[in-house]
Amino acid sequence: MKKLAELYRGKAKTVYTTDNPDLLVLEFRNDTSAFDGQRIEQLDRKGMVNNKFNYFIMSQLRAAGIPTQVEKLLSDTEVLVKKLDMVPVECVVRNRAAGSLVRRLGVEEGYIFNSPTFELFLKNDALHDPMVNDYHCKAFGWATDEQLAKMKELSFKINTVLSELFAKAGLILVDFKLEFGLYKGEITLGDEFSPDNCRLWEKETLKKMDKDRFRQSLGGVIEAYEEVAKRIGVPL
Ligand SMILES: Nc1ncnc2c1ncn2[C@@H]1O[C@H](COP(=O)(O)OP(=O)(O)O)[C@@H](O)[C@H]1O
Ligand SMILES: [Mg+2]
Repeated sequence: MKKLAELYRGKAKTVYTTDNPDLLVLEFRNDTSAFDGQRIEQLDRKGMVNNKFNYFIMSQLRAAGIPTQVEKLLSDTEVLVKKLDMVPVECVVRNRAAGSLVRRLGVEEGYIFNSPTFELFLKNDALHDPMVNDYHCKAFGWATDEQLAKMKELSFKINTVLSELFAKAGLILVDFKLEFGLYKGEITLGDEFSPDNCRLWEKETLKKMDKDRFRQSLGGVIEAYEEVAKRIGVPL
């Protein structure tokens, strides 16, 4: 496999084509962004930690029967993945209230839902990722009803697998964001799962161990990511 041209430079990762048209390289950079890219800082080791974290989580999910993009860990900051035709809608699963939901529904942070929620957001920084529903997805051609049903089913399955994985490490999986795409017609998990796009709280102290430390300027961002990685057994 040979890494070829830069295809896309996102806020946190750079995507490269390879000599295999079905595969891409994702390079995890140290760039850390918040508020739809309005604030960007470099955090030492973040690219390496998130790359290995993501590879570990996606491998666990694949073992649990979830179709994922992951092919091979290439280096500290690079992973080989299947090239997906991305669905431009993000799937968010929540077990407790935090972030935008607290503001939107006026509940207290940490409020425990009777059952997990599922939300869809259009991936569009300029519009601040507006919330959308199944009808918008169908009307604009972002995803079919069948694809959405699969994305929802996989999101809840991932919630079950990962809530248990983190619970064993004394951590609460508060919420997370997923991006799916199509690979040879099949809905497949893409992008990344890392402390950049989920919320994890320490069970005993409710200490935030995720990107909220960056958003809320709490300090010790990468130290928290590394602590989570260590507890769940990610080899760094
Ligand atoms: N397996 C994949 N195939 C194709 N595109 C992908 C894959 N995984 C992630 N992407 C896309 O690559 C980009 C990753 O870079 P990122 O820094 O997260 O970008 P962004 O600023 O758009 O969120 C995202 O746009 C994401 O949707
Ligand atoms: Mg992204």
